[in-house]
Amino acid sequence: MTAVTESPELIELRDEPQRREWEAFTLSGLPEMITSAHACHAVQALAETPLLDRLRSGPHSPDALLAGMNQDIGTGFLHYLANRGIVEHRDNEYFLTRRGDFLTTDVSLARLGVYFDAYPTITSHIGDLLTNKAVYGKDITRNGAALGAHCATLFSFFHTPVVLKAMQGRNVTRMLDIGCGGGQLIVDACVQDPTLTGIGLDIAPDAIEVANDLAKRHGVEDRAKFVVGDAFAPSTWPDVCFQADGLCIMSALHEHFRNGEQAVIDLLNDIDARFPDQRILLVGEPEIRFDSRENDDDFFLVHVLTGQGLPRDRSAWLPVFEKSNLRCRRVYTRPEAGPRMCFYDLVAR
Ligand SMILES: C[S@@+](CC[C@H](N)C(=O)[O-])C[C@H]1O[C@@H](n2cnc3c(N)ncnc32)[C@H](O)[C@@H]1O
Repeated sequence: MTAVTESPELIELRDEPQRREWEAFTLSGLPEMITSAHACHAVQALAETPLLDRLRSGPHSPDALLAGMNQDIGTGFLHYLANRGIVEHRDNEYFLTRRGDFLTTDVSLARLGVYFDAYPTITSHIGDLLTNKAVYGKDITRNGAALGAHCATLFSFFHTPVVLKAMQGRNVTRMLDIGCGGGQLIVDACVQDPTLTGIGLDIAPDAIEVANDLAKRHGVEDRAKFVVGDAFAPSTWPDVCFQADGLCIMSALHEHFRNGEQAVIDLLNDIDARFPDQRILLVGEPEIRFDSRENDDDFFLVHVLTGQGLPRDRSAWLPVFEKSNLRCRRVYTRPEAGPRMCFYDLVAR
């Protein structure tokens, strides 16, 4: 006769203080916030490892997906991704869901990378910055190479066509990109126009390295040169910069507001004086809305934390140009883009 094992007695404990405490946590939205943060790290990890390329090439068994990787962690990670609806598991094979596809487009990964690759060194130290235990630029810095690479992807997708349109018909032969980041604009422009040469200047040596690599990869390294330099001190720029007849400053000029509005006006006047024959000076600037749509508050936060002058909208930029020796003759916009940008086409008065 087999012994019948008695089920243990189950005692469920409930009391009002505990119930209210748990309710406060669940209704706070924090569970979803934690889940979102981890999902961002997870997508970032997909992109950083061979997993994403393997998943993109079609359904694979776990063994094929995890070849050369930590099997235990990988098995659990794939299970987690399935829980989050990023991959699906069917017939012992994993594949990206439609949501997984959308999360891993080049634009989505670049938007994610700005916040989870370039800025985590800053956003994980908000307390230290607030209490002056850390100072941005001295104790902690953003990842310049990552920022350059992700901005380059976004710029190439949304904004290079606008810049090229603005340059059309201006007979620019040598373009200078001030604050060029990863160099995408100059490289794209040189690829599209075989008669064009370009120079990019940026203060971040790692971004310049990314830019020089990009030029090589596109076979335009003989026409596209990138140098380290301070955009806000034209007197220190290498001579090669002054051969340019078309200039642009994309998503960089607002950083000079940290030195006050007059500093921006003085810089524009200085550039105007040093390039008397320029055919175009195009200033591209993100337009911030100061609300929570389309990550605007995330964009705001990283600017606050890094002591950059905040991006402004066109109503705040136009008076700045008014006070300079330059006149804004045209504004180009592209509203549905990340970041949204305005391009100010400036000429000497
Ligand atoms: C948001 S990124 C934009 C990069 C690129 N122009 C684009 O639109 O994709 C701003 C760039 O300005 C550069 N930058 C900031 N301050 C600078 C300075 N004083 N001199 C030169 N570059 C600077 C940063 O290193 C960074 O690459």
